Amino acid sequence: MLASASRNRHRSAMETYRPRRSVLYVPASNDKALAKIAGLACDAVIIDLEDAVAPADKIAARGKLAGILANRPASGCEIVVRINALSTEWGADDLLAAANCQPDGILLTKVDTPRDLLEAGDVLDDNFAPDSVKLWAMIETPKAMLNIGAIAELGRDPASRLNCFVAGTNDLAKETGVLATPDRRYLVPWLMQMVLAARAGGLDVLDAVTNDFRDLDGFARECAEGSAMGFDGKTVIHPAQIEAANRAFAPSAPALAEARQVTDAFALPENQGRSVIALNGRMVERLHLTQAEKLLAKAAAIGA
Ligand code: COA
Ligand code: MG
Repeated sequence: MLASASRNRHRSAMETYRPRRSVLYVPASNDKALAKIAGLACDAVIIDLEDAVAPADKIAARGKLAGILANRPASGCEIVVRINALSTEWGADDLLAAANCQPDGILLTKVDTPRDLLEAGDVLDDNFAPDSVKLWAMIETPKAMLNIGAIAELGRDPASRLNCFVAGTNDLAKETGVLATPDRRYLVPWLMQMVLAARAGGLDVLDAVTNDFRDLDGFARECAEGSAMGFDGKTVIHPAQIEAANRAFAPSAPALAEARQVTDAFALPENQGRSVIALNGRMVERLHLTQAEKLLAKAAAIGA
C-alpha cells in the first residue's frame, strides 16, 4: 500500500515535469535552420524575432510565424516565440502575431519589472490567447536583476502565465560592463540569483547561451556548471550543442542509482513512519525521498 502511494507520488511528479534540457534558438529569418527543427533532439525551440534578425528582415520574419507554428514537429518539442522588446517599433505587433499562432510560450525580451509581464499578459487575455500560451522572460537587464524577486513572484499566480526565466548574459555583460570570462566568475552571482528567484516563484530557469559554438569541450563544461547551479536546461544556438545539453541536464546514472536506494529503503516495512533513516552510513530524511522521487520521475519522463 505504501509502495503504491510512492508510485502515485512518482506519477504526479512526472505529470508536472516538462523537459527543457536543451532549448535551441532558431532565427525566424533563416529558412535553412527552420527546416531543420523537426529532425533535432532539442526539448524546445525559440523562434527568434529579436537579436538574430536584422532590422530590415523583422517584418518578413514575423510573417513566417503562422507557417512555422502550423507545422509543429511531431516530436512534441515545445515551440516558443521570442519577440522584440515591447518598447521597440516591432514589439507590440510581434506580440499580437505570436499570440495568434498559439505557441507554447512567448519569450519577452528586456523585461525590467513585473508590470512588463502583466501588460503582455493583458494583451494575450484581450486577444483570447488560450491559457496554454505561457510567458517566458529574458533576464538580461540590470533592472530585471534588481526586481527579480517581484518578477518571479508572478509565477505563483497562474493568471500571469509566467512560466520560465531565460538568462541573457550577453546583454547583462553589455549593460553592466562586467567582463564575460570563460569561467563566468563575475556573472555567476547573478545567475544564482536567477535560480533562487525562479524557485521562489515556482518557475523553470534556463542557463544562457555559449557563444563559442565550435568549442564543444568548453560547452560541456559550462553545461555541467549550469546543471550544478540548479538550472533546468541550457539555451543553445547551434545543433551541435544539443546532445551535450541533453546529457548534462538529465539525471546521471549514479544519481539515479542513489535515488532508487533511497526510495527502496523508505519502502521497507521497518522504515514505515520513520522520518529519518541511516543508509550506507549517511543520514537520509524524508526530504531526500521527495528529491529522489522527483529525480526518478524526471528520468522516466525523458526515458533515461
Ligand atoms: N537552428 C537550426 N539549424 C541550425 C542552427 C540553428 N540555430 N544553426 C545552424 N544550423 C544549421 C545550419 O543551417 C547548417 O545547415 P546545413 O548543414 O544544412 O548547411 C548546419 O546547422 C551547420 O551550421 P554551421 O555552418 O556550423 O553554422 P552557421 O555558420 O550556418 O551558423 C550561427 C552559425 C551562429 C550563425 C547559427 O548557428 C545561428 O544563427 N544560431 C542562432 C543564433 C541566434 O538565434 N541568436 C540569438 C539568441 S542568442
Ligand atoms: Mg538579449
